[in-house]
Amino acid sequence: QMDENEMKERIATIKRQMGHSLFIPGHHYQKDEVIQFADARGDSLQLAQVSAQQSAKYIVFCGVHFMAETADVLTNDQQKVILPDMRAGCSMADMADDQQTEEAWETLTGYFGDTILPLTYVNSTAAIKAFVGVHGGATVTSSNAKKMVKWAFEQKQRLLFLPDQHLGRNTAVELGVPLEQMAVWDPIAKQLEYEGNREDVRIILWKGHCSVHENFTVNNIKQVRENHPNMNIIVHPECTYEVVQQSDQSGSTKYIIETIKNAPAGSEWAIGTEMNLVNRIIKEHPDKRIISLNPFMCPCLTMNRIDLPHLLWSLEEVQQNKSTNQIKVENNIATNAKLALNRMLSQS
Ligand code: 13P
Ligand code: SF4
Repeated sequence: QMDENEMKERIATIKRQMGHSLFIPGHHYQKDEVIQFADARGDSLQLAQVSAQQSAKYIVFCGVHFMAETADVLTNDQQKVILPDMRAGCSMADMADDQQTEEAWETLTGYFGDTILPLTYVNSTAAIKAFVGVHGGATVTSSNAKKMVKWAFEQKQRLLFLPDQHLGRNTAVELGVPLEQMAVWDPIAKQLEYEGNREDVRIILWKGHCSVHENFTVNNIKQVRENHPNMNIIVHPECTYEVVQQSDQSGSTKYIIETIKNAPAGSEWAIGTEMNLVNRIIKEHPDKRIISLNPFMCPCLTMNRIDLPHLLWSLEEVQQNKSTNQIKVENNIATNAKLALNRMLSQS
């Protein structure tokens, strides 16, 4: 059994030996023990952008499966994207599969004809991105959702927003779409949840969510307001509509990091996002008083599956030129997914 220091030394050695043939992107939600070895840290948009510019032969992706797929789609055939643990998925991305999406599309185009454009949060499988790409739509991330939804409404009268109903609803509200014009598509019941006259629907929200961000509640906000009246509450837009409405600010991972960085010393913050990131922000700002909006902290268990032993193991594999845990998106899916990704990247 190797101890932690030995593992760290081995990782550093492999990185040195492999030089430019290895690139390690790391999402902000990764553990400290992993993120310290990342060549680039970022939110999902930044990591997609840096991966697209890489020439390294091996990209060992410290994040979750859909992010590694995106990196594969945006790099060339000689490059290999590796996920250190295949169990690092995303429960939200798993809430929409291509079969369910085809079924939804059939019903919805039956109702609305050619007036709908699909958009998907990057937190989705490559197959969903391909579906969206083929139908003229684009991907979005939490940091460009507003811009992309606005763009989409310039193309078509109605949108189908996959797979996160909260990001879809929160973004549409910011753009002035009334809640009464939002419907929800339930992929299990295969039906549209809507009370009014169907003609009035502007956006159809896929009934998916992030199980990490749904853990921040209106009750958490009430507690913070009572116990810390000077605290600013900032949350990720994957939180529910009610939580986002009652918070002081909301924004992507990058927005949260920058807002706290630019805040004055002595300011007080309650943050509603993933635990590893909240703990890191707390450590980096000893001059500010920062807590998690949910006192029990909310880890993303799948992000946490990438740990030091998995990172070391996958680096040892690539150093021996093995493609263990390679994430390879099938060619025709990759081509179509790239259409959707490029429509976003060209505007970001
Ligand atoms: P961003 O990195 O776009 O903020 O997304 C958050 C997230 O949940 C990633 O899985
Ligand atoms: Fe998926 Fe939520 Fe984890 Fe992000 S935080 S990877 S959306 S489950």
